[in-house]
Amino acid sequence: MKLNDLPPTQWAMARRAEKMNPSVIREILKVTERPGIISFAGGLPSPRTFPVSEFRAACEAVLLHDGAAALQYAASEGYAPLREAVAAMLPWAVDPAQVLITTGSQQGLDLIAKVLIDSDSRILVETPTYLGALQAFAPMEPAVVSVASDDDGIDLGDFAAKAAGARFLYVLPNFQNPTGRTMTEARRAALSQRAMELGVPIVEDNPYGDLWFDAPPPAPLTARNPDGCVYLGSFSKVLAPGLRLGFMVAPANLYPKLLQAKQAADLHSPSFNQRMVAEVLKDGFLDRHVPTIRALYKSQRNAMLAALQREMKDLDVQWNTPAGGMFLWARLPQGIDSVKLLPEAVDKGVAFVPGSAFYAEGGDPRTIRLSFVTATAEQIDTGIAALAAAIREHRQ
Ligand SMILES: Cc1ncc(COP(=O)(O)O)c(C=O)c1O
Repeated sequence: MKLNDLPPTQWAMARRAEKMNPSVIREILKVTERPGIISFAGGLPSPRTFPVSEFRAACEAVLLHDGAAALQYAASEGYAPLREAVAAMLPWAVDPAQVLITTGSQQGLDLIAKVLIDSDSRILVETPTYLGALQAFAPMEPAVVSVASDDDGIDLGDFAAKAAGARFLYVLPNFQNPTGRTMTEARRAALSQRAMELGVPIVEDNPYGDLWFDAPPPAPLTARNPDGCVYLGSFSKVLAPGLRLGFMVAPANLYPKLLQAKQAADLHSPSFNQRMVAEVLKDGFLDRHVPTIRALYKSQRNAMLAALQREMKDLDVQWNTPAGGMFLWARLPQGIDSVKLLPEAVDKGVAFVPGSAFYAEGGDPRTIRLSFVTATAEQIDTGIAALAAAIREHRQ
């Protein structure tokens, strides 16, 4: 028998592989990459904020002073000066020994899934929640339970009703992806207290917390109960996502297992990138840099709010006013399914993400997520006008 006559190899997939799905957003992004489309769909930070020249200088300094170590294998916990810088950045007393440098905070979610989820483990998430977390958790085959949430955060009654046996509650208290909303101080205090009483650990994901527009958000949940929380942070939104660097702060009785999972996953995050970031962070760079991102994103948010007000005021569309971050959440008029509207909007030259992508258990089909950070103010005007036109036509 010739090789060419043999049937193709049949790969027997693991059960967990069947749980892996392409990200709806990535599929949408393929469409929006068509030239001429104004995209409010992506979750990318604005490349205008990337400190390219600082990284060029840091790259040279690292190679000059520490080149061999930067190119060598290294400790799985992360580069010590970077762990120290992270601990010093956080608004509660953090021992650098509790900091684990990760390959993006997305890796943190993957490590949490591996360490904390068995098949059918009950895990609680907000409604709606970050799609990438659902993707990271899914292969471990959890029973994902959505907890009702409102503009102030998690609904405490619903949380208590669903808490029994939960491995953890996954929350994004600041400028949440996808809704842009922020948990109030009162809700944080009450949630922290209730989670302690019920014995439910909290996984707190905070990539956007530094990107506030008028005032910093309230203290993290982890600051209130470090033993009962794992905290995830990222350099993606304050420096650049291409670095793939994030971090976790984990309590002492969880840290070793996360570290072992990290070792198995990738040994360590890139030594070179960690040193470059530590170099860039020296001398309080973020204190100068992050305010420029805040100012840019605030003006972009304002441009989108103004465009929505102008173009949608006679349509029954509702939207929120996020106090930071990158996303705005809107609700289309009665009877419009945002998944059905999307191709019509793309035909008119504008894209968004249908909100239903972000619900663990089916969601409000009228909702959409709009990113206001990558389009220019002019494109925001044109794009929102095109979206309004698509809604009008769809209704007729
Ligand atoms: C809520 C949330 N968590 C985690 C991530 C992953 O970020 P990274 O892996 O770049 O740190 C993102 C990225 O958009 C996010 O929105």
